[in-house]
Amino acid sequence: MPGVRLTALGTYVPERVLTNDQLAEFLETSDEWIHQRTGIRERRAAAPNETTASLAAAAGAALLSRRRIAPEAVQMVIVATMLPDHPFPATACQVQHRLGLVNAFAFDIAAACSGFVYALEVAAQFIRTGAVANALVIGSEVLTRCVDWTDRSTCVLFGDGAGAAWLEASEEDQFLAAVLRTDGSGQDLLHMPAGGTALPATAETVAGRQHFLKMRGLELYQQVVPMICEVIEDTCKKARLTPADLALVVPHQANIHIVEEVAAYLDLPLERFVLNIDRYGNTSAASIPLALAEAATAGRIAAGERVLLVGFGAGLTCGATLIRWDRGFIYDWTGAKPRR
Ligand code: ACO
Repeated sequence: MPGVRLTALGTYVPERVLTNDQLAEFLETSDEWIHQRTGIRERRAAAPNETTASLAAAAGAALLSRRRIAPEAVQMVIVATMLPDHPFPATACQVQHRLGLVNAFAFDIAAACSGFVYALEVAAQFIRTGAVANALVIGSEVLTRCVDWTDRSTCVLFGDGAGAAWLEASEEDQFLAAVLRTDGSGQDLLHMPAGGTALPATAETVAGRQHFLKMRGLELYQQVVPMICEVIEDTCKKARLTPADLALVVPHQANIHIVEEVAAYLDLPLERFVLNIDRYGNTSAASIPLALAEAATAGRIAAGERVLLVGFGAGLTCGATLIRWDRGFIYDWTGAKPRR
């Protein structure tokens, strides 16, 4: 059975920076409140002509050019997103077309902030069975378009961005273990009520602001922390390791205090966790590849080290994957240069 390697990343974030102080100009909020409660200082906001597909394509294009992969060589494209360009067709189909990936089949995964980890695991399984020899896995979000800009308890949290990963078949399997979990009983904690078959768009749903993201933040916080800890421990166990064996943990960036609690529970120093929530906010399916790329660029991961990616969010969904870092790793940071 072939193994799987992750050999390249590509990222893209929109130019426009939206700081907490800018939000405080039209919302009853402050940089102090937002930063203290969440760790966020600023986020990126897509330009009017940018969409989930265009961000995803930009991240994918950066990866393919830097890794020198011909478009015809790509065999599968998965886009993880909680806000596709359209209910259908899949955003991945647009990415496939924009990048000229004529030999690839493409589909989306809707697992919210766990989407990137779910998509990596799906791609890894396709590669292990021999169905494909490579996969382009992208997390992309334009969440500034689904938040209610009059609701200060949610709109300050989210931002836009995209990150892509290149997975390919290899002799040695560097995807050591993965655990994916779902608890659908928590679906109302974070959702968009209207726009689907349950509540199709009408003048009333629009007037009732039902097409915006709704979140019960504190309850979600309390439910996800134990879920994350359990998934990390179970993933390590599956690989016959302990959390202490992890060189780096790349968590979904929802709230710095979630990461602090998880680090304390696992008895790991916070320095072992990648955090860039201060600059991007919560970019859902894009947050893990953006943070992973930043850590790789900063030289925080050496070849052979073990890196754990963990996502959690709406659904509720949660998932972790444990990777041995590849020697030949390449990253193109076009568009996502750290500002500070
Ligand atoms: N500025 C100023 N005050 C605010 C703001 C704001 N932006 N937002 C809320 N407040 C006020 C509230 O009105 C409330 O005031 P009150 O006490 O007078 O009623 C007070 O601050 C406290 O509000 P809470 O909502 O209780 O604040 P909390 O400390 O719980 O923090 C937060 C809210 C940051 C959302 C937190 O609950 C959280 O991060 N939750 C987890 C979110 C999460 O895990 N998401 C992961 C999944 S994301 C995904 O899947 C896309």
